Amino acid sequence: MSEFLARLFSSDFMPHGHCYLWRPEILWLHVFSDGVITTAYYFIPLALVYFVRKRKDLPFNWMFLLFGVFIFACGTTHLMEIWTVWNGTYRLAGVIKAITAVASVGTALALVPLIPQALALPSPAQLQAANTKLEEEVRERLQAEGALEEARSELETKVQERTAELAESIEALLAEIGERKRAEEESRQLASLVENSTDFIGVASLEGKATFLNRSGQVMVGLDGDGQVQVNMLEYLPPEDREWFQEDVFPSLQRDGTWEGEMRFRHFKTSATIPMLVHIFFIKEPATDRRLALATISRDISQRKLAEETLQKAQTDLAHITRVSTLGEMAASIAHEVNQPLAAIVTNGNASLHLLSRGAEALDDVREAIDCMISDAMRASEVIKRIRASLKNVAPQKTALSLNETIEETLALAAGELARSQVQVRTKLTESSQPVLGDRIQLQQVLLNLILNGKESMSGPGWQQRDLVISTENTRPDEITVAVRDSGSGIDPQNPERLFDTFFTTKEAGIGLGLSISRTIVEAHGGRLWATANEGAGATFQFTLPTSHEN
Ligand SMILES: Nc1ncnc2c1ncn2[C@@H]1O[C@H](COP(=O)(O)OP(=O)(O)OP(=O)(O)O)[C@@H](O)[C@H]1O
Ligand SMILES: [Mg+2]
Repeated sequence: MSEFLARLFSSDFMPHGHCYLWRPEILWLHVFSDGVITTAYYFIPLALVYFVRKRKDLPFNWMFLLFGVFIFACGTTHLMEIWTVWNGTYRLAGVIKAITAVASVGTALALVPLIPQALALPSPAQLQAANTKLEEEVRERLQAEGALEEARSELETKVQERTAELAESIEALLAEIGERKRAEEESRQLASLVENSTDFIGVASLEGKATFLNRSGQVMVGLDGDGQVQVNMLEYLPPEDREWFQEDVFPSLQRDGTWEGEMRFRHFKTSATIPMLVHIFFIKEPATDRRLALATISRDISQRKLAEETLQKAQTDLAHITRVSTLGEMAASIAHEVNQPLAAIVTNGNASLHLLSRGAEALDDVREAIDCMISDAMRASEVIKRIRASLKNVAPQKTALSLNETIEETLALAAGELARSQVQVRTKLTESSQPVLGDRIQLQQVLLNLILNGKESMSGPGWQQRDLVISTENTRPDEITVAVRDSGSGIDPQNPERLFDTFFTTKEAGIGLGLSISRTIVEAHGGRLWATANEGAGATFQFTLPTSHEN
């Protein structure tokens, strides 16, 4: 074997040309053919390698390379055929043939299992069809992609629009949340305001069932807790006021939508009445004005009422004192007034006794004398009754009364005093005078003050004219004006108001209360009192009073 290898390249055999007998036509036919085959066989592997490198995707491309090796080996055997024509290196030629054989067998062996696989490969027609289908699919895919792209961009636009809308609504929502928060804060503040108010603040349904009452309100009427609050609102009033509420207040509330005035509430525990200044109104729906509930904001005016009553009492007391003092000053003339009928009674009594002694024929004269005595006694008793009434200290009581009558009564009281001072009194009283609503004693006091002031203004020594005119006039359909006009010293036309100041007096024995008390009384009756200087001598004091519509 080592000898074989050692002599692998030695040309110790007879060259193949001898077999051709060196006949040129045979020799060159073989050499030329083998040369062409070798060239072709060497070209084929190159083409295959190039092909395989270019088409790496082809299945079984290693098979092409194997074919390349096998064909290259075949080409080399043909090259050796040319070589051995002139050189007897048959060992080398044999080795190359053996290598070619191995490559051929390997290729054949590898090819056999490959055949079914190769057969399974799609045919060009199939590939063409598949290709066409694929192209179709690609076209469809492209179309679908186009549509998809369109849809996507449409979707994108929609998403953008929706996002913008969403942003807008979020902004609106945030604004609304802010607004709602503010409203909540406001309603919290309002609730705290209501809860901490010292007023009675309550809400009731349109049917009148109380639904809410703040703490102060509950304390005011003696309720504990919301459960006790929810009763009909009539329950809050004393029973005797409920009819008035239902017949007067409620209809006027329904008509006007609001009611304001004084009313009494009831303490649920003690049943005491509580004077209140009440404002009732409807809570309405802002947009439609629809009535939703009834509400009240009311104030306990017990303290104010008490103060008013105390003041009233003080004024009444003062008026009483001044009345007493005025009447005290008039004592002499009043005594005279009473004394006169008493003296007449005595005279008539004596005369009757004297007449009786004459027997039966004088009985008619006695009867006449007794009639006179009775009427004198009644006159005296009338004067005393008036004085007693004036001296009484009672709370003022307003009744419908005729001012003309009141003037006559006052004049009767002052008649003695006026006569003593030589004052000429005249009255000009309207016949159609309507009654006024007033306190008889108080109005008498006003008239008496004005009459006595008038008398006093004309009381100076040597005063010639002493005229006092008292008149009533219907200056307006619902008003009567009373004027007391004197011919006295007169007043300062620039400053008549000064006379009404409390304690303003120009008289030695005066207190300066008459006019101020009179003004208070007149104003408490809803009227006015003022003074004007006369064109001639003296002054006129006038006051108005509203007429009563009670009858
Ligand atoms: N008719 C009148 N003419 C002129 N002056 C008058 C008249 N009436 C009142 N006055 C003036 O007004 C003053 C106040 O009158 P008022 O009646 O208030 O008090 P008075 O008469 O002085 O005292 P009294 O309290 O006793 O009545 C009087 O002092 C007087 O100066
Ligand atoms: Mg006076």
